[in-house]
Amino acid sequence: MFELKINGKTHQVEVEADTPLLWVVREQLGMTGTKFGCGVGACGACTMHIGGTAVRTCILPVAAAVGSELTTIEGLDHAVQDAWIKHQVPQCGYCQSGQIMAAASLLHRTPEPTDADIDASMSNLCRCATYGAIREAIHSAAADLAAVKRAREAEEAAALEESTETAPSDAGASP
Ligand code: FES
Ligand code: FES
Repeated sequence: MFELKINGKTHQVEVEADTPLLWVVREQLGMTGTKFGCGVGACGACTMHIGGTAVRTCILPVAAAVGSELTTIEGLDHAVQDAWIKHQVPQCGYCQSGQIMAAASLLHRTPEPTDADIDASMSNLCRCATYGAIREAIHSAAADLAAVKRAREAEEAAALEESTETAPSDAGASP
């Protein structure tokens, strides 16, 4: 029996220790958003996050995932998903959940990636050759995330300024 924490929920599964995590998630737990492509760690269709890092789960034994926070495409809430829609990235769509998971992980590590960063990091395969659209969508998501960050920093700075202005002055206070 193994206990897995996936998308914030705890699941218990009765499988062999060397069962690939992908099979457990798809077949035991019924979350089929993560796809099977090659089965040998080459294509990235099976990408999930383990502790925020993109991992190819067709070659990861379930026992290795115990104790970690796992996220599948069903549990991801990220700017890349909006960017994927905005840029109409998917064609057949088969590889795209893995592409999105890989892109979200890249932006976590490298918030403003260059084309070279994207090309070096996004090794997931796409038979429909959506690579150009993927690159555009990643830049778009990075810009959206940067704008949100700037807005939050400006709000925090304004709140700090306001609290400084309204704080009672200690001028003239007794020593
Ligand atoms: S199915 Fe896992 S890398 Fe291809
Ligand atoms: S969209 Fe068809 S394989 Fe990538």
